[in-house]
This record gives sequence, C-alpha cells and structure tokens, in this order.
Amino acid sequence: MESSLISGKTKVCGIIGDPIEHTMSPAMHNAAFRKLGIDYLYVSFRVRKEELDKAVDGMRALNIRGLNVTIPHKVAIIPYLDELDPLAEKIGAVNTIVNDDSVLRGYNTDASGFLQALLEKGVEPKGKNMVILGAGGASRAISFILAERGSNLVILNRTLDRAKECAGRITKIFQREAKALRLNGENLVNALEKADVLVNTTSVGMSPDIDETPVPSKLLKTGLVVFDIVYNPIKTRLLRETEKTGTQTISGLDMLVWQGVLSFEKWTGMKVPVEVMREEAIKVLQNHEN
Ligand code: ATR
Repeated sequence: MESSLISGKTKVCGIIGDPIEHTMSPAMHNAAFRKLGIDYLYVSFRVRKEELDKAVDGMRALNIRGLNVTIPHKVAIIPYLDELDPLAEKIGAVNTIVNDDSVLRGYNTDASGFLQALLEKGVEPKGKNMVILGAGGASRAISFILAERGSNLVILNRTLDRAKECAGRITKIFQREAKALRLNGENLVNALEKADVLVNTTSVGMSPDIDETPVPSKLLKTGLVVFDIVYNPIKTRLLRETEKTGTQTISGLDMLVWQGVLSFEKWTGMKVPVEVMREEAIKVLQNHEN
C-alpha cells in the first residue's frame, strides 16, 4: 500500500542538527512510511546550538513523535531528556528520541545499528579481537557496544590521549581491558596480527578524499573482516582493497540504514524492510555524486 497524504492525524518525526542540509534520513524514513502506508512524516530541522533547549520544548509542545539527533547535539541533548536507555547513558550520546505523552526517552541507534550491521553479515563480535581506528564520537558508540557484547578491543588513534580516554572508560564501565595505541604503521602491524575485525571510524577515505586509506593494503589479510563506517563513497578505497583479499567487507551504508531502521521501529512499533531504506539511501548518494 502506498500513500503520501498528510492528514490531521499525521504523526511527525524528524532530525535536528546543524548543518542539516545533507542528511539522508528524511528520504529513508519517508520512503519507509510510504511503503508501509502509515500516516507519518519526517522532516529536517536546523537547530542552532544555543537554541537546543527551545527545540526540545518545541518537540513537546508540538507533540512531535520522534527525533533523530545529529551533530552538534548528540551529547548536549542528554540533560533535556526524561529517560535514557542504559547503553546511551554509558556512551554519553543520543541519536534518537521517542516522545510518549511528553516523556522524552533517548537511545543510541548508531551503536545498535552498527551491531546489527555486523550480525546481519554473520559476524558475531563476542570473544572476537576488534581493532578500532579512531576515538571520536562514532568510535565511542561502536567500541562501547562491542565491549558490552564481549569483544576484545584495541583502539588506535592519531591523537593517543583520545584513544586512552576511550579505552579507560571501557575498562571502568564494562570491566574489560581495552588497549589504546597511537595510529601508526608499526602499531597497526602489531594490532592486526591477531585481529578478526577491523573497524574504521576515522574520516580518512571520505569524499572528496576518496583515494586515501587509513590502512596500507599490504596489511590487509585474508580472513580479516573490514567494516568502514564511511558511507560516502559506499565503497571506500579501504573496502575496495579488502575485497581483493577475498574477505568480507561491510560498508557504512549498512550502519546508516540499520540505525534508521531501529529508530523507525521505536517510533512506529513497526518493522520496516531494510531494503526499502537501503535503496533510498543509495539513490540519495548517487544524486550527490551527480
Ligand atoms: P566522529 O563523531 O565522526 O567520530 P570526530 O569526533 O571528529 O568525529 O572524530 C574523528 C576521528 O577521525 C578522530 O578519531 C580523528 O583523530 P584525532 O582524534 O586524532 O583527531 C580521526 N581522524 C580524522 N582525520 C584523520 C586523519 N587524517 N588521520 C587519522 N585520523 C583522522
């Protein structure tokens, strides 16, 4: 059933961030609403840092059903929420809000979307050796959910202190040892020796710098699963070079789509076919390229 009529009963969802023009979420969610024929609409709102409190008041006053939260609000939003999912609280960042009669609950579907993308490809991270490149916000969501799931973690970052901070928090919160190393050739060689999965959370290789890679191809070995959370381009140089080893690759597009699917389920209580959102996201990315 396809329907795109807006009515007096239409439930509104959206995304807040700044800048917001390039978000793919409206296309993905509206395609899913249409596919399921449900009376929902998803729009983007540019919200400046200093007006975040007013945006949250507005969400309550206008009875907006759900919001995604993106840069620069993922951490700053937390004090305005009434309830927090335990993992989002540990991560210290929220990308999804559900509004139930003005009670706002925060979740982190970046983390759960990452995990789902791994599981979908048949990779169970429990007990596996995971090498994480980067120690920013995305790395934190990913490394925390992996720690919770029981992975062994090595975090490499250009700025060693940030890797140490991330690893230190993991040890404290999850009582799991996590190693922190500076991101350089020698440390990469050592870390990758015993690695099962490599996750790139840095922006290296992102458009327009599509000829860059965070890992020299000679270090990629057969059997090492590589997950690059960069989704533009869908196939980064790192993933292209990994494919040549005949090993499994996972694109940031999968994480993007799964975080969308999981947010959607929280707002609507309905399952959306993953392929609907994936196709829509690919369309938007192709339009960006043209
Ligand atoms: P996000 O929320 O997407 O994780 P972020 O917090 O800005 O964004 O983090 C970006 C990550 O990419 C950081 O780990 C950053 O390393 P530093 O902490 O040293 O800045 C990493 N990064 C960005 N450009 C990089 C580059 N050219 N080489 C290596 N790492 C890079």
